[in-house]
Amino acid sequence: MKLAVIEGDGIGKEVIPVALEVLAAFELGIEKVPLELGYARWQRTGAALTAADLELIKECDAVLFGAITTIPDPNYKSILLTLRKELELYANIRPIKPLPGITGVTGRRDFDFVIVRENTEGLYSGLEELHEDLAYTRRVISRKGSERIAKAACELAKKRANKLTIVHKSNVIKADKLFLDVCRETAKTYGVEASDMLVDAMAYSLMTQPEKYDVVVTTNLYGDILSDMSGALVGSLGLLPSANLGEKYAFFEPVHGSAPDIAGQGIANPLAAILCVKMLLEWAGDARALLLDEAIAHVLQKKIITPDLGGTAKTADVGHAVVEYLRSRGTNLNV
Ligand code: IPM
Ligand code: MG
Repeated sequence: MKLAVIEGDGIGKEVIPVALEVLAAFELGIEKVPLELGYARWQRTGAALTAADLELIKECDAVLFGAITTIPDPNYKSILLTLRKELELYANIRPIKPLPGITGVTGRRDFDFVIVRENTEGLYSGLEELHEDLAYTRRVISRKGSERIAKAACELAKKRANKLTIVHKSNVIKADKLFLDVCRETAKTYGVEASDMLVDAMAYSLMTQPEKYDVVVTTNLYGDILSDMSGALVGSLGLLPSANLGEKYAFFEPVHGSAPDIAGQGIANPLAAILCVKMLLEWAGDARALLLDEAIAHVLQKKIITPDLGGTAKTADVGHAVVEYLRSRGTNLNV
């Protein structure tokens, strides 16, 4: 496997090296292709992402991505969004479940759901204009885009509880009606039990009755917002990984951003990035992915945790503890 590695900016530079250490413990013989993209590179060279970078990335099978700070240039096009579009990573998969011993703001631990976020259209269409007194962004929902995300969600639902919740706002937004209809039709074809929720009611319900949900499919911006909110449910934004998947490429990225406020202090929580490694192993069909649950449970139980979880451990300490645990189970990591 050829893996493009994009640390990016801020805490991306701190958590991705830790994730790579963890990945190395699995001895997969991965060929790594490091790429320097982002704000720092833009400041130095004036280019945040070049056509040559894109070529290099497209020659890889997968990408491990940290975070990129938004570049303060009105003409800047988000690198992350460009990559999602260019690589046709239409499904953003965000598993939300509690980790051992960690409780979020609601105090609940009885949930386990996955947000399947449409990743290429919606309000992220890039079709927009900003004038002095008027600005607009076109919210694009296509049958093709809705169908492919609905299929991805149904395939996941089939492997889980065969239950799908479609999240939309079709009472006021016409485009959402198309999304809802296509998702319903697709669920029917797959024989998946589907229900739907308006996004505002869903935000409330996820905080009050999260146990009701299993696979949640939604449009781009709603998925973005609901997934950060779910970080509060789990206990920290530093605990959520995601996989951006398309037909050809897989792109793994912590849900959190570059967090300039804590960057450079070595205190960022690397667990989201480590859970990205777990998702990468799962995607590669490597059953040893499960060992990372054990390893993470071990460090949490030993309270080797970063300040966002109330601990004093450094980013690197958490990484070393995970790697040490994996090593203690033998180098071939037989399950
Ligand atoms: C995420 C991020 C991105 C998004 C930003 C950085 C463009 O918030 O991956 O959730 O909005 O999708
Ligand atoms: Mg987000």
